[in-house]
Amino acid sequence: MSGETQTACRLGRTDVRVSPLGVGTWAWGDTLFWDYGKQYNDQDLAAAYRVSIEAGITFFDTAEVYGLGRSEQLLGQFVRETGREAVIATKFMPFPWRFWPQTLLDALRASIQRLGVDRVDLYQIHWPAHFPVSLASWMQALADAVALGLTRAVGVSNYSLAQMEEAWRVLADRGVPLASNQVEYSLVCRAPERTGLLQRCQELGVTLIAYSPLGMGLLTGKYTLDNPPPKARGWRFHRERLRQVQPLQGLLREIGQQYGKTPAQVALNWVICKGALPIPGAKNARQAQENAGALGWRLTNDEVRALEQVSPNW
Ligand SMILES: NC(=O)c1ccc[n+]([C@@H]2O[C@H](COP(=O)([O-])OP(=O)(O)OC[C@H]3O[C@@H](n4cnc5c(N)ncnc54)[C@H](OP(=O)(O)O)[C@@H]3O)[C@@H](O)[C@H]2O)c1
Repeated sequence: MSGETQTACRLGRTDVRVSPLGVGTWAWGDTLFWDYGKQYNDQDLAAAYRVSIEAGITFFDTAEVYGLGRSEQLLGQFVRETGREAVIATKFMPFPWRFWPQTLLDALRASIQRLGVDRVDLYQIHWPAHFPVSLASWMQALADAVALGLTRAVGVSNYSLAQMEEAWRVLADRGVPLASNQVEYSLVCRAPERTGLLQRCQELGVTLIAYSPLGMGLLTGKYTLDNPPPKARGWRFHRERLRQVQPLQGLLREIGQQYGKTPAQVALNWVICKGALPIPGAKNARQAQENAGALGWRLTNDEVRALEQVSPNW
C-alpha cells in the first residue's frame, strides 16, 4: 500500500485524522436521484466499503437525508461487519420547519442511532439556510453537540466565504474549531478558487471537503456525446457541456497513461494537489478500488496547470 494512502491528515485543526481521500455515500440507498436497487444493491455497496477500508480509506461521508436515512444505516452496518475503524461524517438538514436550534441535537441523536455508534466524528450543517434559525444559533447548537460528546468535530457545507467566516468566528468564541466546509469542487467546478473560498479555508485551517470531485462521473471519461449520462444528470451535462469537456477528458487520459492511472484517478489526484479532500461516490467494489488508486502518487505542478488550462469554466 502506498505511503500517502496510509498517511492520515488532520481534519481542520481538530484531532480527527482522516485519509487524504474519502468516500461519499449519497447514492447508498438513494432512489430519488441515483438508481439504488436497480443498477447496484446492498452487496455492491458492502463490497465498495470493504475495498475502500482495505485500501486504507478511513473517511466516509453520509447525511440524514441520503436515502432518507438508509445511507446512514448501511454505513453503520458495514462498519460493524468489517470491525475496522472508520471516521464517520454526517449532516443535518436545516429544513424551514426546524424552528429551534435544539432540533439539531435531536437530529444528531437520530443519526447516531441509525449509524449504531456512540458518537459521530464530524457533524455538518448541510445547507446555509438561516431562517427561521440564524447562522449563529445553528453554530451554537453545533458547539453544544461537541460539548455533549455527540460529535468529535463540526463542519458546514455549501457555505459561502462570508458565511464560513461568520461560522468560524461564532464557533471560535466557544473554543470549537470549524473543521471543514464541504462544497462542490472539481476540474469542472472551480468556483471555490474563483470566490477565494479555497484560499480562505487554507488560511483559517478549515479543510475544504470536495464533493462531486468526479463531476458526477463526467471526469471518468465514460460519459460522452455518444454515451450521455443518465437522465437525472442530463440537466447538468447537456450536449454543449459534453462537447466542452472533451479536451479535458483527453488530457486526463493522456496524463494518466504516463502513470498507469485512469482519468478518474488523475481528476481526484488534482483535487488533492489543490489541498482539498475529495469524497468520490462509489457504488461498487470496482469504482471504490479505482478511486483509492488516486492516492500514493502525485501530479507535477506543470500537469496540474495544464489540466486547469483545459478545464471548462462552468
Ligand atoms: N454537501 C452536499 O450538498 C453534497 C452534494 C453532492 C454530493 N455530496 C457528497 O459528495 C459525494 C460525491 O459526490 P457525487 O456522488 O455527487 O459525485 P462524484 O463523486 O463526482 O461521482 C460519483 C458517481 O460517479 C460514478 N463513479 C464513481 N467512481 C467511478 C469510477 N471509478 N469509474 C466510473 N464511474 C465512477 C458513479 O456513478 P455512475 O456509475 O452512475 O456513473 C458515482 O455514483 C456524495 O456521495 C456525497 O457524500 C455532498
